[in-house]
Amino acid sequence: MADKPVVTSKMDKLVALCRRRGFIFQSSEIYGGINGFWDYGPLGVELKRNLKDAWWQDIVRCPPVGPHGHPIDMVGLDCTIIMNRRVWEASGHATGFNDPMVDDRETKQRFRADQLFGLFVLPANEPDEAKAAAALQQAIADGLAPVLTVVAASAGEATEYLHSQGKKLLKEAGAPYKNPAEWQTHLRMTDGRSNEEHWATIAAVPGALLKSSAALVPSPFTQKKGSLTEPRQFNLMFQTFVGAVQNDDSMAYLRPETAQGIFANFRNVTDTSRVKVPFGIAQIGKAFRNEVTPRNFTFRSREFEQMEIEFFIHPKTAVEWYQFWRDTRFKWWQSIGLAGSNLQLREHDRDELAHYAKEGAGTSDIEYKFPFTDPGFGELEGVAHRTDFDLRQHAQFSGLGDKLKYYDQEANERYFPHVIEPSAGADRGTLALLCEAYTEDPGRPSGVVMKFHPRMAPIKAGIFPLVDKEGMPEIATNLYHDLRKTWNVQLDIKQNIGKRYARMDEAGTPFCFTIDTQTLSDQTVTVRYRDTLQQERVALGQVRHFLSEKMAI
Ligand code: GAP
Repeated sequence: MADKPVVTSKMDKLVALCRRRGFIFQSSEIYGGINGFWDYGPLGVELKRNLKDAWWQDIVRCPPVGPHGHPIDMVGLDCTIIMNRRVWEASGHATGFNDPMVDDRETKQRFRADQLFGLFVLPANEPDEAKAAAALQQAIADGLAPVLTVVAASAGEATEYLHSQGKKLLKEAGAPYKNPAEWQTHLRMTDGRSNEEHWATIAAVPGALLKSSAALVPSPFTQKKGSLTEPRQFNLMFQTFVGAVQNDDSMAYLRPETAQGIFANFRNVTDTSRVKVPFGIAQIGKAFRNEVTPRNFTFRSREFEQMEIEFFIHPKTAVEWYQFWRDTRFKWWQSIGLAGSNLQLREHDRDELAHYAKEGAGTSDIEYKFPFTDPGFGELEGVAHRTDFDLRQHAQFSGLGDKLKYYDQEANERYFPHVIEPSAGADRGTLALLCEAYTEDPGRPSGVVMKFHPRMAPIKAGIFPLVDKEGMPEIATNLYHDLRKTWNVQLDIKQNIGKRYARMDEAGTPFCFTIDTQTLSDQTVTVRYRDTLQQERVALGQVRHFLSEKMAI
């Protein structure tokens, strides 16, 4: 009997293409890699740079028109990765930026509890361990793992929890909800994000003693019960030392978000530029989180880049600005090629919100349906009303107090502005562009074409002389020298034309210009459209104009 054909998932194929064509490599690959770190190759670095440049252009250099009909005020900033440790005490990260984590005592492997376990509620005053173990094993056998075991301190507490938070969670997860004291094993989390949020919601239930019944859960490696530790809190910030002496005093963190550099510079910016509330400060930069289980390619990395805006407003205008940013940011992702049903805007429920956002105008996520979250969605960008939480914290921790308040001369009012924060991930954005572009087409020699939006495409045009003679290479080279001043274009003289097109299809190059025999007589070139394969003739002198128009699409 013939072997079953190997079915490779879309994600596996995309990762292979990224490696083969130089979009993304594993960091330190020649030494076996390092988990959670990724390098961008020659095509990937262009793609990611196009994304960041478009963001900077559309946010800082040419910011959108605000609800009042004129362009909003926005300035840029570039802060250090290592900052005074007090910043992270003020922001709450030093004590509160934790993930629950379990260790396998035997294999010494470490997992995030919420990824290892699904949700499993056990009223503790009748802890039938055999029943629990059987139900867990069944859930794992049914493919419902990861399973999180939550043990409430008492049946009453478990019931109360299920009534207050659980009902909604269970309903969202599509689980049958009948009697809250019943075993709830058939919970399937829709995606990694909501799984985390469920954990956060559970952990935030005041007074409820919630812990894992680790003894009941078989280790995913040894399949033995009893080798997993109870979940412990694990701070996600990377630590290092500043200066020659390594001790408690010299310990510093690598920033886990770029936002705090903006808050810490709030006064510097208002003192030195002419911005007036409402205005924004934008920053693109690296952030580091020692994620317990980095996964899904670059989606959850330990080193990644953020594109963040902190938009400072009068507290009374929060609803208006929140809605403005939520809608503007959603449209922006659409404008760069994530236009279809793979993109969605999800408003958070109030009980999902972070501590600083509870009183706010709202929080929403812009989400993309990645192949590994499908049919669920994963977060690309969060838009949150952070209130005046951060500025107040920094006022207190720095000792600046009211000096950190904003002074409105016209109204003669001194106050802490509120903040609307659209915070996006450049790596997740790049990954979404890659997933969206990936299109299989058995009719092409390459078998696959990357349909990037022209503004995002790493190479904008390929320039090919049909043959390496009769003056065609010279015309192609001249065209190349002209176009490269503005765009990333490639001149490819060798190989047959089919192979050259195939390379450009895999790189996602939207246009190829071919100089052929007709060019010699009428000074026109063939332009081939990547997506439709349609070909037409354009005057050689019009190629620059043609590309300018197409890039603006
Ligand atoms: N200042 C707010 C903040 O940092 P966040 O939701 O933790 O909020 C914002 O992060 C964005 O940063 C996310 O929407 C995501 O795109 C990106 N991001 C967060 N953690 C990441 C990770 N481990 N790997 C890649 N991107 C990440």
